[in-house]
Amino acid sequence: MNTSLLTRGPSGGDVFARIIEALRNDGYIILNNVFAIEQLQRLFIDIKATDDRQFHAAGIGREQERHVNDFVRRDRIRWLDRSHAPVVFYLDWAEQLRQRLNRELFLGLFDYECHYAHYSKGAFYKRHVDAFKGLSNRRLSTILYLNPSWQAGDGGELVMYAGEGQTVLETVSPAFGSMALFLSEEFPHEVLPAKRSRYSLTGWFRINNTDSLNLDPPK
Ligand code: OGA
Ligand code: MN
Repeated sequence: MNTSLLTRGPSGGDVFARIIEALRNDGYIILNNVFAIEQLQRLFIDIKATDDRQFHAAGIGREQERHVNDFVRRDRIRWLDRSHAPVVFYLDWAEQLRQRLNRELFLGLFDYECHYAHYSKGAFYKRHVDAFKGLSNRRLSTILYLNPSWQAGDGGELVMYAGEGQTVLETVSPAFGSMALFLSEEFPHEVLPAKRSRYSLTGWFRINNTDSLNLDPPK
């Protein structure tokens, strides 16, 4: 169950304060209504319009062997930046959040990287962590889901685990406008096979640590 599912969005309270409070207490939060429906629609139209050729197979760490990669994850991604107009409002939001997180949680976040992800029918991402302690710049993971009328039987849930064991912390439906934020080093998670196309905007706040070996998927 999404015990931390919240219903108040931009028009109802300070979302950043809620995120900061949850990260301080629990290390993660699942939200909805962070963005207005018009903003979500703009992203959805854009991701749907993104030509298949602009998506490419996502990598894992330094793994270059395609068959191993395919076994772990089957999503396809497109990296984003400010030169892509439809996402500028979202990057502005992320920048505001970055500054608040640094001011109030002293996370020392340096930047934010993000990509669209498309899981086609049958695609999944097996259990993993987004960052290994001391080996990655990634500190905070964010996933904004862009799937109108996602049904219970459509699969594609994000399953978050409490730690190394099998204890499930949250099972998150990738429903339109839902958003997951979690400390990248703390929570193993997986994406269950999607039974239809599943879209998201996924990103990471990073520290500027030149010592890290940087196992993040290469761009
Ligand atoms: C990832 C990831 C989860 C999701 O891209 O690293 O775990 O729900 N995504 O899309
Ligand atoms: Mn992940």
